[in-house]
Amino acid sequence: MNAQSPPKRIAIIPGDGIGKEVIPEAVKVLKEAASVFDHPVVLTDFDWGADRYLRDGTTLPGGAVEMFERDFEAILLGAMGDPRVLSNQHAADILLGLRFKLDLYVNARPCVLFDRRFTPLKDRAEEDVNFIVFRENTEGLYVGVGGFFKKGTAEEIATQEDVNTRRGVERIIRYAFEYARNHGLTRVCMSDKSNALTYGHDLWQRVFKQVRAEYPGIDASHQYIDNLLLQMVRDPSQFEVIVTCNLFGDIASDVGAGLIGGLGVAPSANLHPGKVSLFEPVHGSAPNIAGKGIANPMGAILAVGMMFDYFGWLEAAKKIEDAVRTALREDKTPVDLGGSLGTQAIGDFIATRISS
Ligand code: NAD
Ligand code: IPM
Ligand code: MN
Repeated sequence: MNAQSPPKRIAIIPGDGIGKEVIPEAVKVLKEAASVFDHPVVLTDFDWGADRYLRDGTTLPGGAVEMFERDFEAILLGAMGDPRVLSNQHAADILLGLRFKLDLYVNARPCVLFDRRFTPLKDRAEEDVNFIVFRENTEGLYVGVGGFFKKGTAEEIATQEDVNTRRGVERIIRYAFEYARNHGLTRVCMSDKSNALTYGHDLWQRVFKQVRAEYPGIDASHQYIDNLLLQMVRDPSQFEVIVTCNLFGDIASDVGAGLIGGLGVAPSANLHPGKVSLFEPVHGSAPNIAGKGIANPMGAILAVGMMFDYFGWLEAAKKIEDAVRTALREDKTPVDLGGSLGTQAIGDFIATRISS
């Protein structure tokens, strides 16, 4: 079908902990779906993570950003984080480094309930939990600006700057409205804490008012982040598109994951439209279950679905989603969802459903 188009070049970075267990399953499904739908792909493995960092100090090698921009269309990443690396230096350099240096300003985190049996909310069904969080991904409290003064003394001062730029705030808010318009959605909720953060989030308020005026067909609302998290639990059906800053989006997307069956099923995409982009599950390296073969690979597999969607491979993306939905419906689930299947068995089942 697409035999004429050049192959998509995909970097595979399993990373740490369960990243090394879920990514092979995601790759299995990726290869199966690419083959069934005749989409050419070329995969390249990278062994970056805690083991490599502890061995030779490598985090994000010099020239890596230019290499990704030049030689790749997408990156699939597992997770970064290891109890042996207390500083989390390699995660900051690799994961946050790629988000910042590739300017992946959209962190898209869909919260879609595939099967009502897996929400902890009482009397809620699939149609009640179906929204997407757009998290600003290149600034805010994540920029690493700050420092210590008199560290380790009783007078110690620690600062962490919250950086909000007009350009950064405007492009993520605009992306949320564009996404709504392009997907036939009518509700965009912006969340901030402008009642307390009266400078940085005042900017969010002003930019939101300016941008919403350009989208008269969309019902644009605002909730403070504390109330937003409450409302997500109380009545998630009120949300279609949520847009918020870097830290609040991190927190809101874990709460959202909780509504759909947990971190094991939540995917994400770090995007810069038209440029090499990075796809990963929302979860981390889960050291508490790493090495046991019980991690849920569905979040990583659905991240491949988001990658295919980004490539415009819509039919293949839908097939991946449908296969995960079938696994959930047929109780082909791991322990975190009350089942008994291991990581590999779930990957095998989902891959088989792609070709059937
Ligand atoms: P975590 O997401 O790793 O784990 C939180 C909880 O969810 C744990 O109980 C874990 O067992 C469970 N869980 C997570 N993914 C699961 C899966 N696929 N299947 C079944 N259960 C799953 O978050 P954490 O414990 O706060 O962090 C652990 C490490 O991961 C830290 O070093 C943290 O910095 C890092 N981290 C990395 C990323 C990333 O690379 N994107 C994201 C979050 C956390
Ligand atoms: C995530 C993670 C990261 C973040 C950590 C590992 C820095 O929690 O991707 O959600 O906060 O962005
Ligand atoms: Mn997180």
